[in-house]
Amino acid sequence: MPTLSVVDAAPNPRGRVGVVGLGYIGLPTAACLAGAGFEVIGIDVDPRVIEAVNAGRAHIVEPGLDELLSAVVDGGRLRAVLAPEPADIWLIAVPTPVGHDQFRTPDLSYVDAAADALAPVLKRGDLVVLESTSPVGTTRRMIERLSAARPDLRFPQDGRPEAEVDVDAAYSPERVIPGRTLEELAINDRVVGGATPRAARRAAALYRHMTSGELLQTDDRTAEFVKLAENAFRDVNIAFANELSMVCDQVGLNVWEVIRLANHHPRVSVLTPGPGVGGHCIAVDPWFIVAQAPEAARLIRTAREVNDGKPDFVLAKIGAVLEADPQAVVACLGLAFKPNVDDFRESPSLDIARALTARYPGRVICAEPYADALRDPGELVLKPLPEALETANAVLALVAHDEFRALPRPRVPVVDACGLWK
Ligand SMILES: NC(=O)c1ccc[n+]([C@@H]2O[C@H](COP(=O)([O-])OP(=O)(O)OC[C@H]3O[C@@H](n4cnc5c(N)ncnc54)[C@H](O)[C@@H]3O)[C@@H](O)[C@H]2O)c1
Repeated sequence: MPTLSVVDAAPNPRGRVGVVGLGYIGLPTAACLAGAGFEVIGIDVDPRVIEAVNAGRAHIVEPGLDELLSAVVDGGRLRAVLAPEPADIWLIAVPTPVGHDQFRTPDLSYVDAAADALAPVLKRGDLVVLESTSPVGTTRRMIERLSAARPDLRFPQDGRPEAEVDVDAAYSPERVIPGRTLEELAINDRVVGGATPRAARRAAALYRHMTSGELLQTDDRTAEFVKLAENAFRDVNIAFANELSMVCDQVGLNVWEVIRLANHHPRVSVLTPGPGVGGHCIAVDPWFIVAQAPEAARLIRTAREVNDGKPDFVLAKIGAVLEADPQAVVACLGLAFKPNVDDFRESPSLDIARALTARYPGRVICAEPYADALRDPGELVLKPLPEALETANAVLALVAHDEFRALPRPRVPVVDACGLWK
């Protein structure tokens, strides 16, 4: 089978792409590449994912993905398997969480496992692109691991001239926003960092089939840090908004009004406060920087602490309402980590609802339009929105899902952590 060569934009995709990890990033990427004409094999360790994908169904909620999947699966361009089969280009999009230890140590075991799984089927001429958000040096770590498993192949290490490299390696972070993944995959600019310039060019040639955005070539370590810098930027700015909300509460001001007015300044754009910061990315990635440069990354660490502290503030506010009226029952609106997604990872709203339920058993009801995707509701009492509002005599707005936006402000005590009624 012909492999993708060093071209700027190959009009006719040829070659087989293996995408390791079929989650929020890997699955839409695999579907888009298949839609662009590649033969794609999706690899995932979760049999439920394999089953759903091969049936042409997405196991995640993402607008347009079901339609695209069923077209490319029916057309024979995408199939999912549990273990890697030979391919020409590899994309790795597996989780990269942080540990719960005090140093939030990055957990690279999924990347290691993905490298171990694909090493046996690697061959001369392959390109391996890591997409998982990673601490600086992870692509090099992956190369070392692949090299240890395949001493018969030459990898880009130890200053080896690129002409002597058998397997190219690159890093390209993903910037899409869940809920608009397909749209953004097709237009976002992309940073493509090669362990060698050839690897960057080859990876850029692949992505040219997917995006009309700029393909910005650099080295792998720079590309790794760019992604972390982007998410730390977001986190620091959200921390500023969250801190303003707590200061305004203390001095008796409406933070939404303050921000609205401040944002009329031509060079000010304060973000929206919320119940904290969640998800797989912004709440996690800045820790990679802190772990690598703890002395230098003081602002980034403080921002993380401010955002991680916000759920306690929200809990105290709604706790005061429940303490003031021992008969009060509160409806928590939204549990996802942000509006209009079925993603509950690191969700501060979910943490708040769980803590409230534990503290005030029988007095907390939750309404979440995406509750079907919540794998482990535990003790949470989930009800449809109308029933939750009918039963409750206090409301805690946690996530500004579209479904909640049309609601008039309830005539009961409200703690609005997400600006639903700003
Ligand atoms: N979700 C986002 O919006 C987003 C945005 C940018 C970057 N990222 C980054 O992309 C990476 C993937 O994130 P995600 O949200 O797609 O994760 P996810 O949890 O949705 O999907 C990961 C998939 O990988 C599978 N998997 C785990 N180990 C595997 C292995 N060894 N071999 C094959 N499959 C394996 C899991 O079963 C799962 O289906 C992470 O590093 C994340 O930080 C995510």
